[in-house]
Amino acid sequence: YMNYRVPRTRKEIFETLIKGLQRLEYRGYDSAGVAIDGNNHEVKEKHIQLVKKKGKVKALDEELYKQDSMDLKVEFETHFGIAHTRWATHGVPSAVNSHPQRSDKGNEFVVIHNGIITNYKDLRKFLESKGYEFESETDTETIAKLIKYVFDNRETEDITFSTLVERVIQQLEGAFALVFKSIHYPGEAVATRRGSPLLIGVRSKYKLSTEQIPVLYRTCNIENVKMICKARMKRLDSSACLHAVGDKAVEFFFASDASAIIEHTNRVIFLEDDDIAAVADGKLSIHRIKRSASDDPSRAIQTLQMELQQIMKGNFSAFMQKEIFEQPESVFNTMRGRVNFETNTVLLGGLKDHLKEIRRCRRLIVIGCGTSYHAAVATRQVLEELTELPVMVELASDFLDRNTPVFRDDVCFFISQSGETADTLLALRYCKDRGALTVGVTNTVGSSISRETDCGVHINAGPEIGVASTKAYTSQFISLVMFGLMMSEDRISLQSRRQEIIRGLKSLPELIKEVLLLDEKIHDLALELYTQRSLLVMGRGYNYATCLEGALKIKEITYMHSEGILAGELKHGPLALIDKQMPVIMVIMKDPCFAKCQNALQQVTARQGRPIILCSRDDTESSKFAYKTIELPHTVDCLQGILSVIPLQLLSFHLAVLRGYDVDFPRNLAKSVTVE
Ligand code: F6R
Repeated sequence: YMNYRVPRTRKEIFETLIKGLQRLEYRGYDSAGVAIDGNNHEVKEKHIQLVKKKGKVKALDEELYKQDSMDLKVEFETHFGIAHTRWATHGVPSAVNSHPQRSDKGNEFVVIHNGIITNYKDLRKFLESKGYEFESETDTETIAKLIKYVFDNRETEDITFSTLVERVIQQLEGAFALVFKSIHYPGEAVATRRGSPLLIGVRSKYKLSTEQIPVLYRTCNIENVKMICKARMKRLDSSACLHAVGDKAVEFFFASDASAIIEHTNRVIFLEDDDIAAVADGKLSIHRIKRSASDDPSRAIQTLQMELQQIMKGNFSAFMQKEIFEQPESVFNTMRGRVNFETNTVLLGGLKDHLKEIRRCRRLIVIGCGTSYHAAVATRQVLEELTELPVMVELASDFLDRNTPVFRDDVCFFISQSGETADTLLALRYCKDRGALTVGVTNTVGSSISRETDCGVHINAGPEIGVASTKAYTSQFISLVMFGLMMSEDRISLQSRRQEIIRGLKSLPELIKEVLLLDEKIHDLALELYTQRSLLVMGRGYNYATCLEGALKIKEITYMHSEGILAGELKHGPLALIDKQMPVIMVIMKDPCFAKCQNALQQVTARQGRPIILCSRDDTESSKFAYKTIELPHTVDCLQGILSVIPLQLLSFHLAVLRGYDVDFPRNLAKSVTVE
């Protein structure tokens, strides 16, 4: 966060940084840290103070106020502070491993980093051989040391901060979003990214000098770099910079996610891979080393529509709970303006120009991780039915491990709530390289996946903050069904099926409300189950994905062992687990698999299993054998999974609360997995 000619006390600066971190805690939360200018007013520009703490952001916040050397009332007319919340990839969670990482004990350069540097071991070895001493186990510390090495070996005294960063990133392999601060460049900030998201918010009460920042290019030749960058930096005039017109009072917010800064400004610039953004003298400029043919020559300032209250918890005890209860609205928002219930048509604006090409394809490949993958599993059958194409569903990591053959006439879908999941993003690049048409299905405008795909669908579920994904799943599900409906518009033979599904979509919000009324009953069930070690969830056909997703929810936030089992596989192994003690949830709906599910039910009860059955309200048959039933309203078979997953979302929530766990921040997990 940088304030330029906007006087702010240290307390205000802290609050801005800490608030920002708290909004990002869903991304990772095992430790946190800040770097700000030191206390002594006289020498503040020559001293960077680092405060780091293991644990949640709250612990860091408390620590900041404990530092007696920190005068909170000191006012800074211009100040640049950086802060980070970490989710460990290299090195255990600890204060020394948390960010900012520093170049040396004097904190000459400090850096915060999201992502992974894959060649850090080689770089570390090199820097150690030059006498640089490391204190942490992180890959990030290499970056801090490397920039000092470049600085220590500079050929001219007036080398710019952004030139140093440019040289550093030329040595880095892997993924990163980086923000640097240095005592050698007081009041200056440099940020850059490759593969990890980074944006810049701008706030000023004065008019901004431009709405588009032209990107400056330097050539790759290192000799040229030296010359050109010196010349360029001197020539940095208003036309190449963003600043506030007037007395130039302006604040800049660098963040990996808009939610961290949205309460300050909704005017943001999304950086592209290898952009180097620098603020000096209150002016923001962006430059790149190489120009490629596809490069956009400027970065626009965009206005985000996100509201802060959208990302607040409201009256709920956890974001996850709020998000479960938001589903009547979120699924409605996913369909809004797209499904026409009068004409039985569906129009997905982001796909319409590519529809012809998609219809001609050889097959659809639907790729995602975790919950997003389950949305693909849930809709595979209806996609096959409506598109009459072969549909493969793939876990992104496995898809890449197998070097799966992909062809120019394949259409590949990338399902991702965050739009930043590293495995999914890599799979996207893999398919793009092989010439396939790529389609994003994300919940985050401006995310890497939404920008890098050829076309896509925004699921419009609203920000999802609970680490366990809930409303994104149901909205992804509906988005894929809508795609199938759009594809089948001219198929005469499918018209009555399409109408049935569209009617089903229309009634979904009301039916979800009915399912949510079961909350108390599910809470009672959780009271019975919360001390158990395991919980099996079994089903087949359209509801198999519900079992996978329900089991994932249970394991990730309650830490109980839970498995989603395909009922068709029961006798091939899982039946051995069944006895009087083992809790089993069976999902049995009135659909084409009903009779086969009855079979499975018999097999379970014959082994004295005591099934808790999620069934249709009018199902008198299953309830005869149930230890307990949860009765759900009936909808069209291919949409039933939207209703049947909700009791399992609620159950996992209640189990986690009863077991005393923090529902929104399960251990070892982060909301957005931007590393492989
Ligand atoms: C589970 C969960 C994860 C994510 C997965 C993919 O509740 O949230 O399994 O679904 O990490 O994330 P996105 O959808 O952001 O690509």
